Amino acid sequence: MAEEEQRPWLSAELNNMADEISVIGPGHMGIGITQVFLQVGYNVVLVGRSRESLDKGMERLKTSMGKAIKKGSLNEKEAEKMLNALHLSSDYHDIAGSILIIEAVSENFDIKTDVLKNAEAHANNTAIIATNTSSIPIHKLGNGLKNRERFLGMHFFNPVPVMKPIELIISKETSEQAISDVKNIIDKLGKTPVMVNDYPGFIANRILMPFINEAIIALENGAADKEGIDTIAKLGFNHPMGPLELADFIGLDVCKDIMDSIYMETGNAKFIPSELLSRLVKEGKLGRKSGEGFYIYKK
Ligand code: 3HC
Repeated sequence: MAEEEQRPWLSAELNNMADEISVIGPGHMGIGITQVFLQVGYNVVLVGRSRESLDKGMERLKTSMGKAIKKGSLNEKEAEKMLNALHLSSDYHDIAGSILIIEAVSENFDIKTDVLKNAEAHANNTAIIATNTSSIPIHKLGNGLKNRERFLGMHFFNPVPVMKPIELIISKETSEQAISDVKNIIDKLGKTPVMVNDYPGFIANRILMPFINEAIIALENGAADKEGIDTIAKLGFNHPMGPLELADFIGLDVCKDIMDSIYMETGNAKFIPSELLSRLVKEGKLGRKSGEGFYIYKK
């Protein structure tokens, strides 16, 4: 590699490899993560289970990039370059050249564990493997891996292209070198790494989910209507969205899964999903993505 191409912020091991990362899971979060890496010039291998899931992911990516163009944070030429740097694949062999592999599949322990093991089996042995879990303890997800020194959590926020922080969750086994490499990569993304320890729900969701859940209980109790509850948070706390609007935005199934996972870890009743949240999820009212949650959305 020529002198001017050296990346002094990376460890020597990763410096010998191309600016390529892999994202496993072309869902909402995986696509957001893909977009931000493409936007700063990385080649991205996006791995999906099937042609259909990758096609759906591509549609999402193009919609999201369209929003960025509309907002002026991206132009057509840059967008074309980004799409040329994207490689879609359903073959794990294609992740072998990546310096960082980010797992962004469903928030389910068994699925994530399988994907992570598969990723480790096909990755370069100097690559860092990260999970975008929003609540499952890192040490548990890392249990099936051979090299836990290069494994950590990178919890991105939704919408990924807009939100600045990334929770960097480390276990006792994560090496200083891996932490430093990932911090520097995050820096290049223009995002802010926040180091957090491996506690259930990390920081974001242990604070956010009881807040959202309490707003749902207030609605259930008839303390105010949904608009009233959201208005209090927007005008009274200066939040861009009220808690019910935000729950719809995140996905009611995602909120419930996160709460179930934190409750399972802590046994603390404040993390039990409210009856109304559980009922809406059962009825398939998942928020924006299904067209109805606390509010109704035009498809
Ligand atoms: N690339 C792609 N999309 C972009 C974009 C970009 N560079 N810039 C903006 N957008 C999108 C926005 O996401 C929004 O999408 P939408 O139509 O689907 O809502 C649309 O373009 C319009 O964006 P604007 O900035 O013009 O609109 P707003 O001023 O209404 O802001 C918002 C939208 C950024 C979503 C704002 O309402 C907000 O900040 N809401 C709170 C989000 C939040 O709290 N996120 C954290 C959730 S918690 C979490 O993620 C953890 C997880 O584990 C649950």
